[in-house]
Amino acid sequence: MTAIISVRNVSKTYNTGFKALDGVDLEIDRGEIFALLGPNGAGKTTLIGLVCGIVNVDDGKITVDGRDIVDDYRAVRSLIGLVPQELTTDAFETVWDTVSFSRGLFGKPPDAAHIEKTLRSLSLWDKKDARIRTLSGGMKRRVMIAKALSHEPTVLFLDEPTAGVDVALRKDMWAMVRGLREEGVTIVLTTHYIDEAEDMADRVGVISHGRIILVEDKVKLMRKLGKKQLTLQLTSPIGRIPDSLAAHALTLAGDGSELVYVYDPRETEVAVSTLLDGLSHAGLKLRDLHTTQSSLEDIFVDLIRETA
Ligand SMILES: Nc1ncnc2c1ncn2[C@@H]1O[C@H](COP(=O)(O)OP(=O)(O)OP(=O)(O)O)[C@@H](O)[C@H]1O
Ligand SMILES: [Mg+2]
Repeated sequence: MTAIISVRNVSKTYNTGFKALDGVDLEIDRGEIFALLGPNGAGKTTLIGLVCGIVNVDDGKITVDGRDIVDDYRAVRSLIGLVPQELTTDAFETVWDTVSFSRGLFGKPPDAAHIEKTLRSLSLWDKKDARIRTLSGGMKRRVMIAKALSHEPTVLFLDEPTAGVDVALRKDMWAMVRGLREEGVTIVLTTHYIDEAEDMADRVGVISHGRIILVEDKVKLMRKLGKKQLTLQLTSPIGRIPDSLAAHALTLAGDGSELVYVYDPRETEVAVSTLLDGLSHAGLKLRDLHTTQSSLEDIFVDLIRETA
């Protein structure tokens, strides 16, 4: 796959003297859903602002679809749809007008069918004649998404798109985002709901203190850094782990009634089966057992802790 966005050695220092980005290199593949994760203040919105030309680049080079974002600003901007983190809409306009006007800003001819499709896909059709100020916060956020899609962008940036959106509508929103990807739109999103990134993203990037600390295919990342935990519930509690089981990295939990074994899922199942054999040799009987696998959130929290 070829990169549609290329960020090369980009740094940004705000005029307060704060260095928000420090030597960022990042490539976004055409047609992927890329989740940019990081704690508050890590630099996610700054990076998006740079690519969209809202924040000036101090150092480095950014291209979108092969075009330099500074030299070819207008062409680049028309390829991009941005749903900003901060809600900015004209309170007195109607939903229909604001979304239609937004399309016009990018020099696209009016297309009522496209606007209707967009509003329907965001469950906003029944609000098309409502003034923005009469909408709820979650509805306003969806209007921002409709605006960003009004000119049929090739790349869509969603900066915290689901903040303040209820669970049911969030699901609909993600279904719509998947639909856009099917149509070939590249999507870059940020979210503090890591489970959404786990669900949606093809690749994940983690940013911390203005530096990209990891970019990885989501499935590979979860395989590489994910841990599995096997919990063995014993029929009767034990005071200590038998010496014969010392070779296995076990911990005693649940007041002696549970043995917990954390292992790397890439290890062969031999480790688990030797452990189970060892248990039966030691005369321990199992009431039940279950495994859990670490989530993207667990991996993310560990990564951020390591770089804090
Ligand atoms: N206009 C600005 N002037 C000065 N400093 C800024 C400005 N915008 C952002 N910053 C600083 O740059 C850093 C990165 O901010 P940014 O908004 O990019 O973070 P973020 O990763 O999007 O965080 P969040 O998860 O809270 O949205 C923060 O320390 C912030 O205070
Ligand atoms: Mg932000």
